[in-house]
Amino acid sequence: MKFGHFDDVNREYVIETPRTPYPWINYLGNTQFFSLISNTAGGYAFYTDARLRRLTRYRYNDVPLDNNGRYFFIKDGDAVWNPGWKPMRVELDSYECRHGFGYTKFSSSKNGLKADTLYMVPNGENAEIQRITLTNTSKAKKDVSLVSYVEWCLYNALDDTTNFQRNFSTGEVEIEGGAIYHKTEYRERRNHFSFYSVNAKPDGFDTDRETFLGLHNNYDSPDTVMAGKSQNSVADGWSPIASHRVNVSLAAGESKTFIFVLGYIEMEEAKKWAGENGCAPASKDLLQTNAKMRVINKEKAIALQKRFETPAQVEAAFEELKKFWDGLLSNFTLKTGDEKLDRMAVWNQYQCIVTYNFARSASYFESGIGRGIGFRDTSQDMLGVVHQIPTRARERLFDVASTQFEDGSAYHQFQPLTKRGNADVGSHFNDDPLWLVLGVGGYVRETGDVDFLKVDVPFDNSKTNKASLFEHLKRSFHYTVTHIGPHGLPLIGRADWNDCLNLNCFSTDPNDSFQTSTNKDGKNAESVMIAQMFVYVAPEYAAMCRKLGHEDEAKWAEAEAKKMADQICKTGWDGEWYIRAYDDFGKKIGSNECEDGKIFIESQGFGSMAQVGADKGFPIKALDSVKKHLDTKYGIVILDPPYKDYHIELGEVSSYPPGYKENAGIFCHNNPWVIIGEVKSGRPAQAWEYYKKIAPAYLEDISEIHRLEPYVYAQMVAGKAARRHGEAKNSWLTGTAAWNFVALSQWISGIRAEYDGLRVEPRLPAHVKNATITRMYRGCKYVIAVENKKPDGNIALTVTSGGVKVDGTLVAAGAKGATVELKAIVG
Ligand code: GLC
Ligand code: GLC
Repeated sequence: MKFGHFDDVNREYVIETPRTPYPWINYLGNTQFFSLISNTAGGYAFYTDARLRRLTRYRYNDVPLDNNGRYFFIKDGDAVWNPGWKPMRVELDSYECRHGFGYTKFSSSKNGLKADTLYMVPNGENAEIQRITLTNTSKAKKDVSLVSYVEWCLYNALDDTTNFQRNFSTGEVEIEGGAIYHKTEYRERRNHFSFYSVNAKPDGFDTDRETFLGLHNNYDSPDTVMAGKSQNSVADGWSPIASHRVNVSLAAGESKTFIFVLGYIEMEEAKKWAGENGCAPASKDLLQTNAKMRVINKEKAIALQKRFETPAQVEAAFEELKKFWDGLLSNFTLKTGDEKLDRMAVWNQYQCIVTYNFARSASYFESGIGRGIGFRDTSQDMLGVVHQIPTRARERLFDVASTQFEDGSAYHQFQPLTKRGNADVGSHFNDDPLWLVLGVGGYVRETGDVDFLKVDVPFDNSKTNKASLFEHLKRSFHYTVTHIGPHGLPLIGRADWNDCLNLNCFSTDPNDSFQTSTNKDGKNAESVMIAQMFVYVAPEYAAMCRKLGHEDEAKWAEAEAKKMADQICKTGWDGEWYIRAYDDFGKKIGSNECEDGKIFIESQGFGSMAQVGADKGFPIKALDSVKKHLDTKYGIVILDPPYKDYHIELGEVSSYPPGYKENAGIFCHNNPWVIIGEVKSGRPAQAWEYYKKIAPAYLEDISEIHRLEPYVYAQMVAGKAARRHGEAKNSWLTGTAAWNFVALSQWISGIRAEYDGLRVEPRLPAHVKNATITRMYRGCKYVIAVENKKPDGNIALTVTSGGVKVDGTLVAAGAKGATVELKAIVG
């Protein structure tokens, strides 16, 4: 069952009912100011850090679901309704929500009144702009009132939801003209404030939540809205809000547009206050919590309000935003005639950017309070965005590498605001160092920027202790070699990619975090997956060594990779598939000998991507075992059979109920490893079957089962052992985005940036007979016409125009600004 449709021309997902199976959300903002917005206008805004600079309140976990947002109330005679349906949930005559790239639009109507609303964060602005147009479609004149509403968060989101004894006394506001200013804690150490303004003289306002709602009401019947009269309340502690009332008179057929700005302003210490020496002259238009207190210097705020005073200014900013996204998305395009596949090529790239922007911090499943930026996570996210935003990728890689320790290991996470490693979340996830090599490799292959490897980068943010980025990569790579366990495989440390394989944790206390407690010396438990990653990463590392002229190091790395691969064949192979790990007692994990958890996806994925034991047919055997034991109609589960009991020697993986999360859920993140492994093993048809099963555009028709947005991936879908098999959780912020884009763009479309050119090896599905792929690579545009006769056949690549050299399937980098046309015949 569908709840909307794709508008491919405008690149929007059009939601046709507010009653989606779960809030279907979108993200606004690209650099510093961000908002989350659902299809009922729920969500919240923050500046840079969702924990430390939260601007508006949201209530996770509440009923009804998706509580609080930026709401407009319309009172038209006795009818009171919201254009986004919530919070009143009054039946609308029509409703439509369009989530586009960086903006969301609503169009709804009731009783001959139409409301069209646009929400966006313009490029380079610290503000959410809301443009609402009311149109009287009836035959008679209408007098209606429009009431806006946002609830301020007192900036520190964790404190805001816990420390009421303080917070209920600190709230302060100012009201002047059409703007309501939130100045809590501005009197002391904060040099920032927020505001919510309208480009009209309001006919009333409220800034105190209890007055606005009535203490015993819910959001579906605010006293002041129902009564048709604002109280002009001035907040004094408790819960400050911002609400404007605009009375609008509309002749039959007439439209009026209003612009609301939710802005964030930072001030230099010396300029925080208005007037001479910070003493403002008395203004009769100004109201504030305490009339004796100093007044905010509003210069910057007013300048921001003036930039969005007219509909023409908003329209221009909206056009800019669209142009910005057109630019980002033009670096890779895919046209196959399969509309779902073509959509995935577009939407998957959008999700990659959003995931890159937020890491794992703020979604409807991540509270924005718990997590910083993951070392491993962000290094992977890089793989999905580097062709779109190479400069920003470079900056982030620098930040990540700056948190690395001298011995090559790393903090597992760092804070976006401070960029420092977060010791509370621990370190020594022994796969972390290798992801840095992959991330940097991806960047250098894309850009050819070898000089980046020579840049000095701190260890653990030290001002003095630095070494070249290449040296960081060297320590990463050597870290694996110097941390080997009893079976000749890498020690796992706290865990590897699977955060829940906590083989040194041995916890019996429910108050322990699996992620940070350790009760073993870490000298026994080993990871086959890290061994395979090492083999996979080695060619990348060796290539970078050679770019810098370190031939000996390159040879050494290749020899080590060969040794590691041999070792995996000896102690990491179970007969039909790759083993997953060895526990602290030296017992196998992910082996036919085990009662539960006999086979894991990660080692089959990485083993086949790295082609470990290819001469013995291991990759194909392992992939056949995936098909036999892990495949389901909704995707590949992470392991089988699920753990029935808690295993102290395994940790969190066995803590989840069967079929969920790391205990046999369909972890969409590592499905693409199998997809890539299948392509590399010469079986594109099987790769395609797996791709289709989890790609959201292909799941649109079963939205009532899947439940989450049909335009983005979720981290997890309930596995076959779960009662709710097929139901997704944790959409948007997941490494799934980047890895599926790698699978789609590099292996199914077959376009890969290499160190010395662009590889063109399309392995498209059989039903796609002809396709056009465009790819910007180092400033040159490649237009590739694909004729797909036999997807696993030989590839003949020729240049039709543009005159660059082709060597087999490798095309040389063309001149900047040039266009190169290629023809690829497959089969
Ligand atoms: C989550 C984490 C990621 C981890 C995965 C598997 O998605 O963000 O770092 O690899 O779970 O545990
Ligand atoms: C839990 C989750 C896992 C995540 C980790 C770190 O272990 O199951 O997916 O990676 O927390 O936040």
